[in-house]
Amino acid sequence: MLNNSKWISYKEMQNDRCPVFKKDLCLKGEVKHAILSVSALGCYYATIDGVKVGDFVLAPGYTSSKRSQVQTYDVTDMLKNNSVLEISLSQGWYKGRINWRSNQDNKDVYPSIIAELSVTYKDGTSEAIVTDEGWQVALSKISLADIYDGEIYDANYEESFGPVRVNDYDHSRLVKQQGEKILEQETVLPHKIFTTPKGEVVIDFNQNLTGYPCFKVNAKRGEVVSLSFAEVLDKEGNFYTENYRTAKCNFIYTCKDGENEYKPRHTFYGFRYVKVNSLPEGATPDCVKAIVVHSDIKRTGYLESSSPLLNKLFKNIIWGQKGNFLDVPTDCPQRDERMGWTGDAQVFVKTASYNYDVEKFFEKWLTDLRLDQGKDGYVPSVVPQVWGDDWSGCGWGDASTICPWQIYLTYGNKNILKAQFKSMCGYLNYISKHSTKRYLWTGCDHFADWLGLDAPYGSYKGSSDQDFLASAYYLYSTGLVIKAGRVIGKSVEKYERLYNNILARIRRTYKKYKTQTECVIALHFGIAENKEAVAKQLADMIVENGKRLKTGFLGTPYLLHALSQNGYTDLAYDLLLQENYPSWLYSVKQGATTIWEHWDGINDQGDFWSKDMNSFNHYAYGSVADWVYGVACGINTVEEKPGFEEVVIAPKPSDKLSYLSAKIETRKGAVSSAWFKEGDSFRYEITTPTKATIIIGDKTYYVDKGSYVF
Ligand code: BGC
Repeated sequence: MLNNSKWISYKEMQNDRCPVFKKDLCLKGEVKHAILSVSALGCYYATIDGVKVGDFVLAPGYTSSKRSQVQTYDVTDMLKNNSVLEISLSQGWYKGRINWRSNQDNKDVYPSIIAELSVTYKDGTSEAIVTDEGWQVALSKISLADIYDGEIYDANYEESFGPVRVNDYDHSRLVKQQGEKILEQETVLPHKIFTTPKGEVVIDFNQNLTGYPCFKVNAKRGEVVSLSFAEVLDKEGNFYTENYRTAKCNFIYTCKDGENEYKPRHTFYGFRYVKVNSLPEGATPDCVKAIVVHSDIKRTGYLESSSPLLNKLFKNIIWGQKGNFLDVPTDCPQRDERMGWTGDAQVFVKTASYNYDVEKFFEKWLTDLRLDQGKDGYVPSVVPQVWGDDWSGCGWGDASTICPWQIYLTYGNKNILKAQFKSMCGYLNYISKHSTKRYLWTGCDHFADWLGLDAPYGSYKGSSDQDFLASAYYLYSTGLVIKAGRVIGKSVEKYERLYNNILARIRRTYKKYKTQTECVIALHFGIAENKEAVAKQLADMIVENGKRLKTGFLGTPYLLHALSQNGYTDLAYDLLLQENYPSWLYSVKQGATTIWEHWDGINDQGDFWSKDMNSFNHYAYGSVADWVYGVACGINTVEEKPGFEEVVIAPKPSDKLSYLSAKIETRKGAVSSAWFKEGDSFRYEITTPTKATIIIGDKTYYVDKGSYVF
């Protein structure tokens, strides 16, 4: 791709100030058709005669450092004979502060762009204008641009152009745009503007979101628009940014004389509140708006209930997904992480795939996973691997098996299994090589039940036995490899033997479970031999804890499932509807507009959890929605007929709500399931786009597509 174009960069290794590349186009005639193709090592922002090319935000996107996506834009209507093409470049995801690995491994690689403008003239001739020595470069008006640190722009800075540096970097890293485009999705207006007790002027957008501000003001040269960002206010009502850790999240714009309109081009922020540090004289804070940015995924799932608090939780889950689906599924969008944490992604993938159409999104991300997977099969903790050593932790590495399998179930996509199968097997291989005991996964370090509330003092890890959890995930992933292998016609006897051996050894080794999460995993992964006893143990622990959970990242996603699969649906509802700490609705009652990283991000007294690890936009615990879709409303895919080619609908209502409804717009059409409490019984309204098995209480109905009331 772009075979005749050269990688070009600024003459020196780029520091904070972004270079801008320029080409005077001098076109030879009337243009019939013109396509601009661009990619970069870093993030680029292309303009023709000052107008942005295309709508892609933060192109070329967030990929494995081993590849760069190429975007193509039809620019026919933008061109004049003497048009000027300019492309500014920041270090972006490839070389910015976020990419610790690339900064080690690619120290000597210059942030660069590569492009081709291919023009067909009306007289039938054509030409290709490619990046090469004929381009010019200057340091631009952007004196700082970084994913974590924000953007600083001086409209008065004079650019002085000179020759580019040509680099002989490989073209083989260039690939077609694979993921969804990252786009501006909506604009949010200030909800409230107020002065804090400290005397700071703050805009409340009423929604924790991911994106950037924009403004339009009249100003005198040298006047400054300076904004800061925060997710929450502290208990005194002051602006609080400590949980952003080292992410500086600057936004400073120095105005020219006259009208100034701007939005950052090379960064994004996670925020609900914007502090106005300065504005030009006469401008008012309401000139600032917030633009929401995320991958262009289509909304497909809807949940609604009779409980306003629960509805707010459903909304927060959606906003959590919007805020963290920016080319890769990130842990959070605000502090100095914003990485594709594999554990978080696997925990949430099912909910994600019901809420939105994420097939293409995950195909792209799993390609990155494959590319960054180690030779020995380890799956990095974050994909793209911008950080971390060469090892896998249980529940995190398992994103390599759980995500493809879920995408297969939701969309019926066999290709994703074909593409990922080797990676899935590679991961199992890694485990077997690194475990100290055969057929278990022992002796390694893990994130384990991350943020479990039974963590020993000072630790992030819940107190569940990490060798047990790791061995259980080893079993579970082996099971998924078997299922995936069968679907795509691979021989899986070896894995069937492995599965039986792991199961037998786990059962021999771990006979007792001591935490909520251990019970949940033992039940959900089919390890517990005496299910009834383990389910009772789990239920008792929850009841003794005031009908409250203690689970972290690994126990929480399966907690309600483990209960409802074993006769404790009522208790599962108690947990879902619990309003006291720790619970889903606790954060809602505290005013959350997204899902928190910690059950106690803000405690009852209004104090924060440690600033070291306290994101207010972490989608992982939003995975509870998959229980609402799949159990409470009962909409399920069928393994043998994936992609909703057939569906099983088995709602489990509760008299704790007067109604609950779920709808998923599948590839086969909309499937929906709602129930309404009517006196002592329930009325069910079910629509299926395909053949369905409907299970209501102890009755089973086999129906064709249509709408049914029971
Ligand atoms: C991230 C998590 C991640 C975890 C690993 C955190 O810093 O934000 O969501 O999964 O580290 O344990």
